[in-house]
Amino acid sequence: MDYYHSVNGVLADLEPVEPVFCHRPHTARRAAKWFLDNFQGDVLYAVKANPSPVVLDALYEAGVRHFDVASPKELERVSSFKDARFYNMNPVKHPRHIAISYFDYGVRDFSVDCMDELDKVLRATGHAKDLNIFVRLAVNNNSSMLPLDRKYGVPLLDSAELLMAARLNAAKLGVCFHVGSQCMDPEAYRQAITLANQAIVRAGVLVDTLDVGGGFPSAYPGVQPLELGHYMNVIHEAFEDSLASDNARLICEPGRALCAEAGSLITSVTLRKDNYLYLTEGAYGALFDAAHLKFKFPVQMHRVGANSEQAKLTGFSFYGPTCDSIDYMPGPFMLPEDIGIGDYVEVGMLGAYGQSMRTAFNGFHEGPEVIVGDEPMHSMYNFDQEQEDVLADNVLALEAHLSE
Ligand SMILES: Cc1ncc(COP(=O)(O)O)c(C=O)c1O
Repeated sequence: MDYYHSVNGVLADLEPVEPVFCHRPHTARRAAKWFLDNFQGDVLYAVKANPSPVVLDALYEAGVRHFDVASPKELERVSSFKDARFYNMNPVKHPRHIAISYFDYGVRDFSVDCMDELDKVLRATGHAKDLNIFVRLAVNNNSSMLPLDRKYGVPLLDSAELLMAARLNAAKLGVCFHVGSQCMDPEAYRQAITLANQAIVRAGVLVDTLDVGGGFPSAYPGVQPLELGHYMNVIHEAFEDSLASDNARLICEPGRALCAEAGSLITSVTLRKDNYLYLTEGAYGALFDAAHLKFKFPVQMHRVGANSEQAKLTGFSFYGPTCDSIDYMPGPFMLPEDIGIGDYVEVGMLGAYGQSMRTAFNGFHEGPEVIVGDEPMHSMYNFDQEQEDVLADNVLALEAHLSE
């Protein structure tokens, strides 16, 4: 993959028509190092967030050796990593996929949230004696921007039977949960760990692992989470206060927090109608979260051969390239008021759940991928004054737009 110092270099060299996905693996390396240094347990990377080889390699180089995979295809992507351990933490799996994970890739760690799934894992592995079973608990997701609690998790009241059955059949027993993605309040982890403790007491079982899941946040315009250090302090404190700390290993499964900063996308403006920009990327592409979850990603205009940095910022909404009217990203996205056809819009913070969500709908899925060495638009790991100022400007401009 070609390397460029900056996005301007990409544009000058490629003059791209199709959207260009820019990887910043150095940011994934930085995030991984931070987690490995600051989390008092094992760090599993949730591959679903960004399965690009360039990001996976960066995380591995930084020292990540545990990977949460949801499917055989994701396993294939990480299977060449030496000394790595793979976990299948998707609570509902096809029996054939369980068997492939166990027999072909050596996966021993599986999560379940009901008796039928436990039975399925046992049967698909030939009632193996070396399984590590994680019981996934339903926990409060109210502090997250992307709740995941409706689909998975056994409620506390029903958890004792499942924990006891898993204990009887597993070499090692774990309890896991997910507080929801982009969790804005570290106290959500304390609540969830307290609930896990109650489940362990009710079932009267010993657990070998407590898995606090993913959910660690990234910075987006108007959304500045507390420093990640606060999250670690709360988790470590709550773990110490729980029975699990007597003999259990602590693990976490960050996806977004390790790779959100590691990707941006350069798309071009094909038409402007008032404050609506028609772009070459949209809801069926890397802007899925901007459309369906109304995420306001940071944006920057690039104009080849001219400088429009001084123009006043104003709020825009985006339409994507497909014929579908739900291909719409409301924003508002703050861009120079003179932006128009032929200008490029770089959308930042798309490293998590950006490229991995792209579809081939209407044939708009191809474009070059490059590596860029500059800094991301926002960072949880390198938050200097300049970035703080940019973020503050964006928030002010956003507020002004909303009050118009
Ligand atoms: C089982 C599991 N672990 C980890 C993650 C990663 O979550 P996040 O990206 O919020 O850190 C997810 C996300 O859906 C998940 O389903």
